[in-house]
Amino acid sequence: MAVAPHKVLLLDLASNINRVPSNYIRPISDRPNLDKVDSIDASIPLIDLHDVTGSNDVVQQIGRACKDYGFFQVSREFFSMPQSERLKSYSDDPSKTTRLSTSFNVKTEKVSNWRDFLRLHCYPLEDYLHEWPSSPTSFREDVAEYSRRIRKVALRLLEAISESLGLERDYIDRALGKHGQHMALNYYPPCPQPELTYGLPGHADPNVITILLQDDVPGLQVLNNGKWLAVNPIPHTFIINIGDQIQVLSNDRYKSVLHRAVVNSYKERISIPTFYCPSPEAIIAPAPKLIDEEHPCQYKSFTYTEYYQKFWNRGLAKETCLDLFRATPYI
Ligand code: OGA
Ligand code: NI
Repeated sequence: MAVAPHKVLLLDLASNINRVPSNYIRPISDRPNLDKVDSIDASIPLIDLHDVTGSNDVVQQIGRACKDYGFFQVSREFFSMPQSERLKSYSDDPSKTTRLSTSFNVKTEKVSNWRDFLRLHCYPLEDYLHEWPSSPTSFREDVAEYSRRIRKVALRLLEAISESLGLERDYIDRALGKHGQHMALNYYPPCPQPELTYGLPGHADPNVITILLQDDVPGLQVLNNGKWLAVNPIPHTFIINIGDQIQVLSNDRYKSVLHRAVVNSYKERISIPTFYCPSPEAIIAPAPKLIDEEHPCQYKSFTYTEYYQKFWNRGLAKETCLDLFRATPYI
């Protein structure tokens, strides 16, 4: 079947095909090998956020914000609107602060990914809220509420991470300049041949930490000792992963986690990552306290804008962007 890549959103393409179009098919050496993936939920630590945030209030508010499928509902409604309505937000320019797109970066990549996504900048909220989709009617209100509350959790987690590195509690907070926060609403339609393609191939997130809310459909996998492991959904939990900027700030003490999303033939999947980040002009470098003779400085300093642009332009083909910012480049 001849399909012009990216002239349509994946959702509209996927609803009436029974084979994956050729531009989504990965070379044999780069396929998900779904039968070789283990699921070992037990080895991923479960943390009670009451312990981290020290506040029942934040946790309860978040619980309320995501209650059952309320928050997924508004996301699902967005993706089920007619194409003409969804396309109002469409853009293939990664520098746009609000945009619907498909795959990862349709301008630079050779093989496409089985995903549509709406990406929103959410901090400072008042700078972006007016750009967000205005339908479904409760979209702005619900998503804004979620983003405000999840930010509080992110800030507490950053304090806990700072402390765990032996830094002052507010070290990371201060390192991020004015701060930034993005969110994606990822929509993975059912795929007729999930063994041939990815929702998202293996990658590390370029930001500081990612707080992922996923619905009840499996798809997320993390690389652990060279093996992909399925992180199956557990109700009322977030998945939290360290991104590239923590790896830099910690001077490689903490590693940015490689992860990917696979798709399935039976059910659509929605995942909603919050990407907490530095503000664009923030200058990122390893914390001086974590540099000594035993731990020489691993990275040169850079602005987050520089990093972020590299991330989007080089694609997800190579696993991490960090090597481009090493103090002694080894690629
Ligand atoms: C991402 C991501 C994983 C998922 O959007 O960066 O890794 O499960 N998503 O959708
Ligand atoms: Ni990711």
